[in-house]
Amino acid sequence: MENETVKKQAFENPEPFNLDILASALNPGLFGKNIIFRETIGSTNVFLKRLAQEGASEGTVVIADEQSAGLGRLGRKWFSKKGESLLFSVLLRPQLPPRKLFVLTMIFALAGIDAVQDISGLNTMVKWPNDIYIGEKKLGGILTEFSVVQGVVQHLVLGMGLNVNWNPEMEKTLLYPASSIFAESQEKVSREEILVNLLKRLEVSYYEVGRDMERTEGFYEKWNEKSLILGKTVVIETGKERIEGEAAGIDRDGALTLITAGGDRRKFLCGDVSVKMNLSEQRNF
Ligand code: BTN
Repeated sequence: MENETVKKQAFENPEPFNLDILASALNPGLFGKNIIFRETIGSTNVFLKRLAQEGASEGTVVIADEQSAGLGRLGRKWFSKKGESLLFSVLLRPQLPPRKLFVLTMIFALAGIDAVQDISGLNTMVKWPNDIYIGEKKLGGILTEFSVVQGVVQHLVLGMGLNVNWNPEMEKTLLYPASSIFAESQEKVSREEILVNLLKRLEVSYYEVGRDMERTEGFYEKWNEKSLILGKTVVIETGKERIEGEAAGIDRDGALTLITAGGDRRKFLCGDVSVKMNLSEQRNF
């Protein structure tokens, strides 16, 4: 009963975002120089892409308490309630060819799951291509967008939405099972602490990638270890086709390899994956 009261209070009284905590913890690092907070915004990704085109410096971070037009992958909408989620985007200007950019989404997702583990103790996984899952429920999602001119990457915006104190029971319109850190741990966690932890990790990994792209083996190994679907029979829907097979691996370009029942190896760069349980049951997690 006591737990239920705490839970209800956390859901009903989100704390205002404390920008000072962030600024003092991240300064003078890469992500501490230009932190922008908006109580309400359309989409942090859209806002930051515009700043990037206007010349904003690498490391700029945009955070919002609420998004009125949050974007998900594949043109979907991303719903959130004011003050209950971590909604943010970061700007990078990597000196990498476009085909090597996937490693940055990868280190962003790994920074996310490690930060959640550090702050809440929860063990989360990555569902290809870049969702954060706890068990069979979605805890967060990543939207990576970049601009390339004549083969050269101009900017890369990594956006993440993480359900922190959000109450999944209140949402009747979700397409998939979802959860939040608070719903899983029964503990209120600080959005600022998670973000500081995540951005510090991202900075370290980003410099590691920048120093030597050839030595990113550790990230790929961890990425595969933390993958929710590897070794499982899955169905992938690409918009054009629907294919079933065993998820055999994710390569350095982020492509998922499926081995079909006929033994063919097929590679996919994007799509929606669901895990096949048996002939009659399929879970869209
Ligand atoms: C997905 O799972 O489809 C990706 C969701 C990404 C949502 C985040 S919230 C912060 C940033 N701004 C956006 O408009 N989208 C991303």
